[in-house]
Amino acid sequence: MQTKITKLAEFLFFQGPRIAQSKIDQHFQKKTILITGASFGIGEACAKRLAHTECTLVLVARSTDKLLQLKNELELNQCQVKIITTDLYQLDAAENIFQHLQVQDIQVDILIHNAGKSIQRSIWKSLNRAQDIDRSVAINFINPAHLTRLLLPELKQQSGQILVVSTINAKLFAPPLWSSYQASKVAMQQWILAIQPELAIHQVDTCLVYLPLVRTRMILPTKHYDHMPAMQVQSAANAILDSLMGHKRQWQPWWLILAQIVSGLLSTPIYYFYCYMLGRKK
Ligand SMILES: NC(=O)c1ccc[n+]([C@@H]2O[C@H](COP(=O)([O-])OP(=O)(O)OC[C@H]3O[C@@H](n4cnc5c(N)ncnc54)[C@H](OP(=O)(O)O)[C@@H]3O)[C@@H](O)[C@H]2O)c1
Repeated sequence: MQTKITKLAEFLFFQGPRIAQSKIDQHFQKKTILITGASFGIGEACAKRLAHTECTLVLVARSTDKLLQLKNELELNQCQVKIITTDLYQLDAAENIFQHLQVQDIQVDILIHNAGKSIQRSIWKSLNRAQDIDRSVAINFINPAHLTRLLLPELKQQSGQILVVSTINAKLFAPPLWSSYQASKVAMQQWILAIQPELAIHQVDTCLVYLPLVRTRMILPTKHYDHMPAMQVQSAANAILDSLMGHKRQWQPWWLILAQIVSGLLSTPIYYFYCYMLGRKK
């Protein structure tokens, strides 16, 4: 049960922008939008929001049944849906998606890198788990970077857009227990920031969306998140679509700048606080 305080905090700190359907139509009509991680959570919410526009959605994820169900549901509206089943933990996933697009003669105008993997695990419990690092880097950095690279020539032709769904933690003091997630999200952030001007001069937009906690199945394994304020999935989708419509270079909650200042100024106390908290659980 959400308390009144949690609801108030969500109202003050976890709102996304409001957007009218007419504005969505204006920007996305006749466009082809590829969304990774579109079967659940934020990606699914983006697809549902775009379904009322005459556009083509290319939905990428592992769960074929869910993608097919979503295709049937979304095509009752204005959009056309193509699905690509792939596992982004595999290092050749970007190449497979690209082949698929070529075979079906699909030209992407807007690329939304949304699929992601988060793991909360101590490094001491990860000593025999090479896959934690490998999978995080594959899905959060290697495949999005390769897919971007492969699609860039056509995105350049179409003055396309690339959007990366990131996390507010990528701008804050690195939290312990989240090493693989944190490192792979920061890697993608830095990669995009580095190519941003190179792409801008060729009229290709890039945008990083730094989301706070969002209530999706991703946060379910972390029990203490149940009682914390979080963004609704529709608000996160609105933040993504609004950023694309506004050709923004980044979107973040209004208070993140304050959190960054605190994180920078108080890095030493934060470090000792983490040591204290982890020491108590040792
Ligand atoms: N939820 C949060 O609090 C939060 C906060 C900040 C940022 N984010 C970011 O938001 C993005 C979306 O997360 P979410 O909260 O919507 O999570 P979610 O509900 O768990 O959805 C994740 C999506 O990614 C797909 N996916 C996962 N592993 C995959 C793989 N190996 N290959 C292909 N697709 C895969 C999933 O589909 P299948 O399982 O069908 O493959 C699903 O469609 C992520 O990049 C995440 O880092 C989330």
